[in-house]
Amino acid sequence: MTTDKEKEALPSSANNNFNIIEMNNVGLRYDQGPEILSDIKLALKKGSFHFLTGKSGAGKTSLLSLMYLAQKPSRGAVSVFGNNVNFTHRDNLALLRRKIGVVFQDFRLLDHLSAFDNVALPLRVCGMNEREVRKRVTELLSWVELDRHMQDTTATLSGGEKQRIAIARAVINRPDLLLADEPTGNVDNDIAPKLMKLFVELNKLGTTVVIATHSEKLINDFAYPRLHLQDRGLHIYYPSDISALGGIHA
Ligand SMILES: Nc1ncnc2c1ncn2[C@@H]1O[C@H](COP(=O)(O)OP(=O)(O)OP(=O)(O)O)[C@@H](O)[C@H]1O
Ligand SMILES: [Mg+2]
Repeated sequence: MTTDKEKEALPSSANNNFNIIEMNNVGLRYDQGPEILSDIKLALKKGSFHFLTGKSGAGKTSLLSLMYLAQKPSRGAVSVFGNNVNFTHRDNLALLRRKIGVVFQDFRLLDHLSAFDNVALPLRVCGMNEREVRKRVTELLSWVELDRHMQDTTATLSGGEKQRIAIARAVINRPDLLLADEPTGNVDNDIAPKLMKLFVELNKLGTTVVIATHSEKLINDFAYPRLHLQDRGLHIYYPSDISALGGIHA
């Protein structure tokens, strides 16, 4: 029998209702500029799936960068995997980041490396043997229809092809948290649902997912709750609210 006091001492991940991300009274400003995010309060449960919406400039990428531990809030508390980023050592933040897969809006691939080597990177960092790396990377790059380009350096590929490599790199080691910033913004309409399927399957295996998107089609086709940024604040809508409101403009 665990007492309440002992429960408090346990890492949060030992609780069933573990929040992967928590934000309280969070504000974010760049340099001496105005706050672009204010009083953000958020709790994302382990295994949840959310869309992140809001007009261009509303702060989607900025909110994701707080979740990815790329920056600290100007005020308030951000906790990721139960670690308050204000009190977590840099080295530990780097370790936490390894559990997060990120699809950056601007891809951030290593352009001098091949598609294969970009996607293999997270597996090699973990020390996986090359046979297994080859198997996994080949399989995933085929799934995203890039078999033909596996050995091409990414600098020579199109925007949509780079985006699929960025997605493959983010999901290849089945991260605990997946943050994707406009992951289908550059691909053809016919491949977007296939990429979404990848995220849905990953989520079924336990990954917590947040996808920033402008795509009304994506949001309507998949009934996941929506984190919506407007006027520096965050509002959460559930699929039933959205239809009752007659939609929310992304
Ligand atoms: N590094 C930075 N330095 C200063 N201001 C920034 C920086 N990054 C973003 N901003 C500002 O913060 C605000 C939010 O930007 P952000 O990129 O988070 O929006 P977004 O919702 O992702 O937009 P988009 O849909 O166009 O990608 C904008 O006003 C932007 O100019
Ligand atoms: Mg953005």
